[in-house]
Amino acid sequence: MKLFETITETRSFSEKARISGKTIGFVPTMGALHEGHLSLVRKAKSANDLVIVSIFVNPIQFNNPEDLKKYPRTLDKDLEMLESVGCDVVFCPGEKEMYPEKTNKSYDFGTLATVMEGAFRPGHFNGVAIVVHKLFDITLPHKAYFGEKDYQQLQIIRALVRNEKLDVEIVPCPISRETDGLARSSRNERLTPQCRRAAPYIHMVLEEAKSLAPAHTAEQIIRFVSMKFKDHPLLKLEYFSIASSETLQPVSGVILPGSYGFIAVFAGEIRLIDNIKLI
Ligand code: PAJ
Repeated sequence: MKLFETITETRSFSEKARISGKTIGFVPTMGALHEGHLSLVRKAKSANDLVIVSIFVNPIQFNNPEDLKKYPRTLDKDLEMLESVGCDVVFCPGEKEMYPEKTNKSYDFGTLATVMEGAFRPGHFNGVAIVVHKLFDITLPHKAYFGEKDYQQLQIIRALVRNEKLDVEIVPCPISRETDGLARSSRNERLTPQCRRAAPYIHMVLEEAKSLAPAHTAEQIIRFVSMKFKDHPLLKLEYFSIASSETLQPVSGVILPGSYGFIAVFAGEIRLIDNIKLI
């Protein structure tokens, strides 16, 4: 497995690979890798000649400076994990390499970016789009892999590819969960033992919402979910939204096929997100 810290080395590797007819699968990450990330790498490995993984904690997508400061950094363990699943190249740039000067690029994703995570984390998706666009230009992938855990991010990246006419196929990957149902996340490491024990409740409530969906309206299910969190001692609901998986706009009344439930919850200091296909 090769480890590159510079843009030049990485792009030159990718250019050569393309010239020799090899296909490149790319998995962007912020490190602190877990089984969820590895599921993306395995999927990339099975469909491409070469797999490149990037590890870069992208400062411009953090709207909360404390979250950026405390984001887990576990490079040695990450490299071991990537080696074990047959990753070919890790691109691990420093901040100066990615942002030699301040960037003020601004993308317009319309209403895709103004709901849910976009509403609660101003500037977040612009920061994600800037870094992912840059990473695509460096790694030159044929296919790039994104988890449905960050469903809105996946839709934003699809819009980025459409709007900017990028020549890369976006491959969605299912949510990987702990055995107790909690969606895997680098932030789970930061949960207190008490909050870690409480957190699977989030997925449990989403499953209950799903079982109610065929016979209830969106408004009824939203009321049900907010009741379930109302007096919870450890988990604080930030939002629960029922929205179209394509447009991410809220649905009302009867829940039509293609609707998802999207949730953000604070478990102590740690913000967790999850989602479920309702129908
Ligand atoms: P990060 O949170 O490290 O996630 C990297 C990729 O792994 C994303 O596509 C995310 O959706 C996916 N992922 C994380 N947990 C998952 C799980 N439990 N199941 C399936 N996939 C999962 O998302 C980012 O980094 C950044 O925003 C990034 C795209 C790298 C841009 O900085």
